[in-house]
Amino acid sequence: MENAQKLIHTHDLTEKSFESFLPANLRTASRLHFTPIEVAKKASEWLTETPAKSVLDIGAGVGKFCITGAYHSNAHFYGVEHRESLCNIGIQIAGHFGLQNVNIRHANILDIRFSDYDAFYLYNPFYENLEFVKRLNDEVTLEEDLYQVYLNHTETQLDQMKKGTRLVTYHGNNFEVPNSYEKVAEAFNGELKLWIKQS
Ligand SMILES: C[S@@+](CC[C@H](N)C(=O)[O-])C[C@H]1O[C@@H](n2cnc3c(N)ncnc32)[C@H](O)[C@@H]1O
Repeated sequence: MENAQKLIHTHDLTEKSFESFLPANLRTASRLHFTPIEVAKKASEWLTETPAKSVLDIGAGVGKFCITGAYHSNAHFYGVEHRESLCNIGIQIAGHFGLQNVNIRHANILDIRFSDYDAFYLYNPFYENLEFVKRLNDEVTLEEDLYQVYLNHTETQLDQMKKGTRLVTYHGNNFEVPNSYEKVAEAFNGELKLWIKQS
């Protein structure tokens, strides 16, 4: 199936080809803020090895995780991103790769109902409210208080998912992960973690 889908791809997906579609000002930021392709591939494999059909990236950036997952599988990858400029770039890049199974939506995570999705990916999205130095840009309001608001929403929504739900986290302190999830695997020196809801 993977090979059948690959035939219609207009470009090979590599770090270099992905970066070539980014505006110059985001190429350096990309290495700090967006998931490396090989990590995104492993994460999306973990999330879709069950019958999971729709995967949500919580804070999708320019859609690097979603695009990689969509490129390598037939599952549908949804990204929510509160910076509109990043969404627009992600939508364009998905188009360059000829992918139909990606949606990147401009919204805040507070407006997202997690029960619409089967599995989740989280690359430390909310820490930017606490870390003033390495912010991507000034496009959105970032405040210390928002960190806890976003974290609480995400934890509550994840906790309401059904038993067996998969979540992959990359970096971060994993405070968003409810106690109902157990860590079952790690990769990339423990930075990538697979969690499965136990109850
Ligand atoms: C570390 S980047 C990860 C991007 C992407 N998931 C990836 O792996 O390449 C986190 C992203 O989350 C977004 N984000 C942070 N808080 C958000 C919120 N409350 N709602 C939607 N997006 C948010 C940021 O704008 C940023 O693009």
